[in-house]
Amino acid sequence: MNVLGIETSCDETGVAVYSAERGLLAHQLYSQVELHAEYGGVVPELASRDHLRKLLPLIRATLEQAQMAQDDIQGIAYTAGPGLAGALLAGAAVARSLAWTWNIPAVEVHHMEGHLLAPMLEAHPPAFPFVALLVSGGHTMLVKVEAVGRYALLGESLDDAAGEAFDKTAKLLGLGYPGGPAIASLAEQGDADRFRFPRPMVDRPGLDFSFSGLKTYTLTTMQKESAGLEGEALACLKADIARAFEDAVVDTLAIKCRRAVRQTGVRTLVLAGGVAANQRLRGRMDEMMADEGGSVYYPRLDFCTDNGAMIAYAGSQRLAAGEQMGMAFNVRPRWSLMDLEALA
Ligand code: KG4
Ligand code: ZN
Repeated sequence: MNVLGIETSCDETGVAVYSAERGLLAHQLYSQVELHAEYGGVVPELASRDHLRKLLPLIRATLEQAQMAQDDIQGIAYTAGPGLAGALLAGAAVARSLAWTWNIPAVEVHHMEGHLLAPMLEAHPPAFPFVALLVSGGHTMLVKVEAVGRYALLGESLDDAAGEAFDKTAKLLGLGYPGGPAIASLAEQGDADRFRFPRPMVDRPGLDFSFSGLKTYTLTTMQKESAGLEGEALACLKADIARAFEDAVVDTLAIKCRRAVRQTGVRTLVLAGGVAANQRLRGRMDEMMADEGGSVYYPRLDFCTDNGAMIAYAGSQRLAAGEQMGMAFNVRPRWSLMDLEALA
């Protein structure tokens, strides 16, 4: 079975073809980053319009890359939520119209399930059960995964998501959007010993996170230390702050993951979502899991951030289990991962 996957929940248009027999056959991504950059964040209405402009050409290009015609596709998977309502609707309308005209089934995919299953596209995928740390721009969750659709929430962020904290901190340091990659590259030049930022909530039991205090701490440090600075000295200060912030987030995530692994007795850890592209986080998790006698799995860098491949894969699992939808469709801008059904 060949499944066309369509992702449009935020600011990337992603399209892919996944074959149950042959694996991932093609994937294409169009990022709207430049479109939103001048506004310092995603403008929802611009995002929806751009998805509509780009979807059909991208679908054509993906089919061409897979050397397929429409007859070779047996199902369509699309992101139905969570995400921006208009952006989701653009993808849903195109996906459902194509499925209807091609007379093939369509299936809704939960964006975070897509992220969670992205490591399954790699040559050495993790085996169930595993603990997954999902760190994106909108979510920070620790989940115990027994099988596709069988998820138990172990902990989550009580305020900002990890990616959101990167984005907001980048903004207050005057860096561009998206903030994660900008902070990570500035942190490379920073002095790790100049500041030590707090590790929020690590001295409390439990597996929840909170990142908004860290953002405020960063702002206060910036205001206090930058008085009278300019030029090289100011640039150095920003790099040192970026490093201290990144270290604090990475450390906090690693401490909670170690706790989750010990608590569940599950020694396989999966990292997914945009922040999983962070090299310092990956390095730190490798060390931590080696120390715990377990192993850690990530998607390739391109599949940490939003993409169509993860949606095609998640959808193909659900289609193979016989899931499909009636004629009516809707999108779910808010949709809990815990509401998903296990595969039949
Ligand atoms: O998964 P994703 O592409 O979109 C959502 O589903 O939200 O994640 C985007 C988030 C953004 O907040 C971005 O700043 C962050 O992932 N991100 C990073 C890195 N690359 C992307 N954060 C830290 N380090 C990175 N290298
Ligand atoms: Zn995402």
